[in-house]
Amino acid sequence: MTAPLDTLGRPLGNLRISVTDRCNLRCAYCMPEEEYRWLPKEHLLRFEEIARLARVFASLGVTKVRLTGGEPLLRHELHELVRQLAAIEAFDDLALTTNGLLLAEQADALADSGLKRITVSLDTLRADTFEALTRRSGLERVLAGIDAASRRWPGRVKLDTVVMRGTNDGEVLALLDFARERGLELRLIEYMDVGGATKWNPQAVVPREELLALIETRHARAEPLPDRERAPAERFRLADGTVFGIIASTTAPFCGACDRARLTADGTWYLCLYARIGLDLRELVRGGKSEAEIAARVRDVWTRRADRGAEVRLEELARGPLVGLETLRRDPHLEMHTRGG
Ligand code: GTP
Ligand code: 5AD
Ligand code: SF4
Repeated sequence: MTAPLDTLGRPLGNLRISVTDRCNLRCAYCMPEEEYRWLPKEHLLRFEEIARLARVFASLGVTKVRLTGGEPLLRHELHELVRQLAAIEAFDDLALTTNGLLLAEQADALADSGLKRITVSLDTLRADTFEALTRRSGLERVLAGIDAASRRWPGRVKLDTVVMRGTNDGEVLALLDFARERGLELRLIEYMDVGGATKWNPQAVVPREELLALIETRHARAEPLPDRERAPAERFRLADGTVFGIIASTTAPFCGACDRARLTADGTWYLCLYARIGLDLRELVRGGKSEAEIAARVRDVWTRRADRGAEVRLEELARGPLVGLETLRRDPHLEMHTRGG
C-alpha cells in the first residue's frame, strides 16, 4: 500500500503511543491542578490491541514510534509491549519519553526487550526546584535513572528541559554542562500553551533567541546543524563538539514538516497536539475490524488532515492557555498528559 499524504503534502511517519494517562509527578507546565479525571481502566488498550494498531500504522508508512504517557513506566510490564513493537520490522526507531523516576529499575528490561533510545525529562538539578516544579520529591531517583540510561543506551540518551521563566531559566547553563559531561543531548523546550498548561502565560516562555544568546555568553558560537528533517528540535554544536537542541514550538513552530500522530492509552487517535477531535480506534479494534479495514479508515482520515495547531496559535494576538479548566474536566483527552508530550 502506498503511504498517504495529508492535504499539506505531509506523510504519516511518526506515531506517539501513550500507554497511560497517569503520572507520578505533577509538573507545573503539564499538570498544575490538584485533581484530575483519569481515563476509565476498562478503556485502556491491552498490549495486543496496541500492537495491532501499531501494525496498521506501520502498513501506512510509520517508521518511528515513541512511547509516552503520562509516565509510561507506570504501565505494568511495559517491557512486554516494547518486545511486541520491536518485532514489527517496519519500525526503524523505537523510543520512549520518561520522567526517569522508575528508570533505574526498568532500564535493563526495556533495553533487553528492544527499546532503541530514550529521552528523560530533566528540568532542574536542584532538589528544592524539583519539588516546587513537580510537587513531588525524587530528583535523586531521576539522576540514578539517567545514569542507568547512559549505561544501557550509550550515545542515545536525550534530556528534555522545559524552560520556564522564573522557575528554571537560571539553570540552563548548568543543565548544559551536566549533559556535556555525560555525553547526553540536552534539548531546551519552549513552554507551550498545550492541553493542561492552564497556568501558561506568554511572559513565562523563554524564546529560542534568548536561549541561544544566553548559551553564547558562555560558549563561542553555537553552530546550527543542517540535519533537522522532520524533527521538532533544531540542533546546534558548540566548539568542543557538544550537541544540543532547541524545540521552539511556541515561537517558531514546525507544523509544515509535521509527520506525527498520537494514540492515547484508550485508543483515541489525534492528528495534532492541539487537535480538539480524535478518531476512536478502540471501537474499531474491539469491534472486530481487520487490520486492513482499520488501515483504510486511518488512511482516509490522514489524507484529509490539515492540522497546523502550533502555527495557528502563533497567529493569535492575545494568547493565553489553550483550553480552560472546565473544558479539560469535561474532556480529559485534551490534556497533554493524556495525549503524550
Ligand atoms: P526525537 O524523536 O528524538 O526527535 O524526539 P521528539 O523531539 O520527537 O520527542 P520528545 O518526546 O522528546 O518531544 C520533545 C518535545 O517536543 C515535546 O515535549 C513537545 O514539547 C515538543 N513536541 C513533541 N511533539 C510535538 C508536536 O507534534 N507538535 C509540537 N508543536 N510540539 C511537539
Ligand atoms: N510545554 C512544553 N513541553 C511540555 N511537555 C508537557 N507539557 C509541556 C508544555 N506545556 C513535554 C515536556 C516534558 C514531556 C513529558 O512533555 O517535554 O518533558
Ligand atoms: Fe504537528 Fe500539530 Fe505539533 Fe504542528 S502543532 S507540529 S501540526 S502536532
